[in-house]
Amino acid sequence: MTCVEELNELYALENDLSFETHASGLTLARVNIPECQAECMLHGAHVLSYRPAHRERSILFLSDQAVFAQGKPIRGGIPICFPWFGSHPTDQTLPAHGWARTQAWELIETARTKNQVILRMALAQDELYSICELAFGAELSIDVSVTNGSDIPRTFEIALHTYFEINSITDVEVSGLENVPYVDQLKNEIHPGENTTIRFEEETDRIYQGSVKKITLSERNQKTQFIIEPRGSRSTIVWNPWIEKSKRMADFGDEEYLRMCCIETANVRANQIKLAAGQTHSTGATIRLA
Ligand code: BG6
Repeated sequence: MTCVEELNELYALENDLSFETHASGLTLARVNIPECQAECMLHGAHVLSYRPAHRERSILFLSDQAVFAQGKPIRGGIPICFPWFGSHPTDQTLPAHGWARTQAWELIETARTKNQVILRMALAQDELYSICELAFGAELSIDVSVTNGSDIPRTFEIALHTYFEINSITDVEVSGLENVPYVDQLKNEIHPGENTTIRFEEETDRIYQGSVKKITLSERNQKTQFIIEPRGSRSTIVWNPWIEKSKRMADFGDEEYLRMCCIETANVRANQIKLAAGQTHSTGATIRLA
């Protein structure tokens, strides 16, 4: 029996959830319920698309040049960056944003509630035991819990690197991070925070440090509002590569920066998570249209 046949036998949910082999050979879960349609790779426990009912297309951006291959990250959707964010703090030969986004997670449970399909996937490495729970319904929830399975204290960083699909980066604004201090990663400077909404006119790469309850990404002309409600998170990364960096990224179109904006629910740098032996921490977010 192939892996996909086995997954369908054990975990498919009638017409609501099925498994298939993606053109790349990676395994794809497909959700199709009245509330939404969605696709998720077991590779990286990576949500590729999520389209709530009454919306024409996914609210998540996925690059036309995304690479789908074992050991490679996928450009778009929701990569899970873990257990470090950006470059590894001491070993530059290790992959950016950690190993979780480039490995096959193991599906451990699926469930159907009245209006949601739930997938649970697990990954165990370096004595860190992670469970990603995805709930697809009228909203999308993602929660990643990490348990320190070693007998010494451990630290880690995590970011739910969500790429939102927008019509034009010059027409959006982000609210909810006013007066939150941030690190400008491009200038390596700390800012006390600004009391205005965020707009985009150049490459933007900021780590906001502070707990927030709700962030709104609004499209001015299209009147679309994406709402992000973080849980267990004390950092938010706001990223758009703009013109020059887009050209440098091999798996990203030169003009695609216009159509995406990343708002990442996270715990990084000064707000990395410290776990005593046996302790668990969960980072999550609910994403929906207003
Ligand atoms: C963002 C970082 O979260 O991810 C950026 O803040 C980085 O600095 C971006 O460039 C994309 O990273 P990657 O490894 O997916 O190209």
